[in-house]
Amino acid sequence: MDRTELVMSPPVVMAPRPDGFEVVWAVSARARGWVEWRTADESPGRAHVADCGPYGFVPQGSQVLRIRLDDLAPGREYLIRTVTVAVTDEHQEVSDWKSVRTLDPSATSATFVAWNDTHQRDDTLRALDEASPGADVWVWNGDVCNNWNDPDEIVPTILNPAGRDLTAGRPMMFGWGNHDVRGPWAHRVPDVVASPNGLPYHGFRIGPIAAIVLSTGEDKPDDHPSFAGRVSFAELRRRQAVWLAEQITRPGFVDAPYRVVFCHMPLRWSDERVLTDLDYRTGKWDQYSRVSRELWHDALVTWGTQLVVSGHTHRCALIEAEPDAPYVQLTGGGHTPDIATWIEGRADHQQLQVSAHRLDGTIAHQIEFEPLA
Ligand SMILES: [Fe+2]
Repeated sequence: MDRTELVMSPPVVMAPRPDGFEVVWAVSARARGWVEWRTADESPGRAHVADCGPYGFVPQGSQVLRIRLDDLAPGREYLIRTVTVAVTDEHQEVSDWKSVRTLDPSATSATFVAWNDTHQRDDTLRALDEASPGADVWVWNGDVCNNWNDPDEIVPTILNPAGRDLTAGRPMMFGWGNHDVRGPWAHRVPDVVASPNGLPYHGFRIGPIAAIVLSTGEDKPDDHPSFAGRVSFAELRRRQAVWLAEQITRPGFVDAPYRVVFCHMPLRWSDERVLTDLDYRTGKWDQYSRVSRELWHDALVTWGTQLVVSGHTHRCALIEAEPDAPYVQLTGGGHTPDIATWIEGRADHQQLQVSAHRLDGTIAHQIEFEPLA
């Protein structure tokens, strides 16, 4: 009799940092495991073992195993593989070796890729995976799901989407969308998602690009009856305002040549006047997060934010900077292959070029930024 497969996903590489990253993988039964890692010039027989969680436990669980790797060198390629052992009978499964590159804040060039609003569409995910190149960082910029009404959807949706290894050649930063925080099981998503600082908002530096990831929360007020008292995003947005004001003063951020923000809901929209004072009781929802902008705008302007990359509207759009809104707003497309986009950023010391690509190979929008420092 064939035994059920124990390991249900590739080693998913999340939350890359200059000194490490986190590896998260799915299992079908109670298991423990570890990650073996080595540099490209070390032989497999000399692999190191990462097996110590923050409380001294070896990674273990019945759905997800995860381990954070620390003390690695910036901008270096490592090979990793997971080893997983069934608790019941010691059956062991070992993954293939997978290449991972740590972030390099001092590199002369950098690349990012951003997707949004994939909403569990396997056809879209497959096409985006085939079309998108590798990158220093891949931002999965929200709405990976269609509300978490079934707790069993969380692990496959995030760790094995469309049965692909989406973090091969592009380690993932998870950006939270309004659907990712929605539903009775959304509070369990942090069990599966890693972040560099353990929070849904954080910053990272890749070469000349400083990036800040923010969580715009839901698209209706916290007391909306459909949320059933489960969310407190007004407070989360306020905390991010406090954090952001400090983060933009940090070395590597205050002096970065290029300054980019990723957040699922746009902070600007083209027809804002008709989108204010919505009656949320009648099914209306925010197309852009004015409540976030009111809290974050001053810090974003002080920092010199050049670009905000978002999704949410399922409509690829570029809104130029204006005197009272001096950051460009780029919004990616939607959930079906005909309207999906992948956004690419490529920076060197001369320019940051950002383009939004449709899946038919055409470019929806492209814009260049000059270095600020
Ligand atoms: Fe969406």
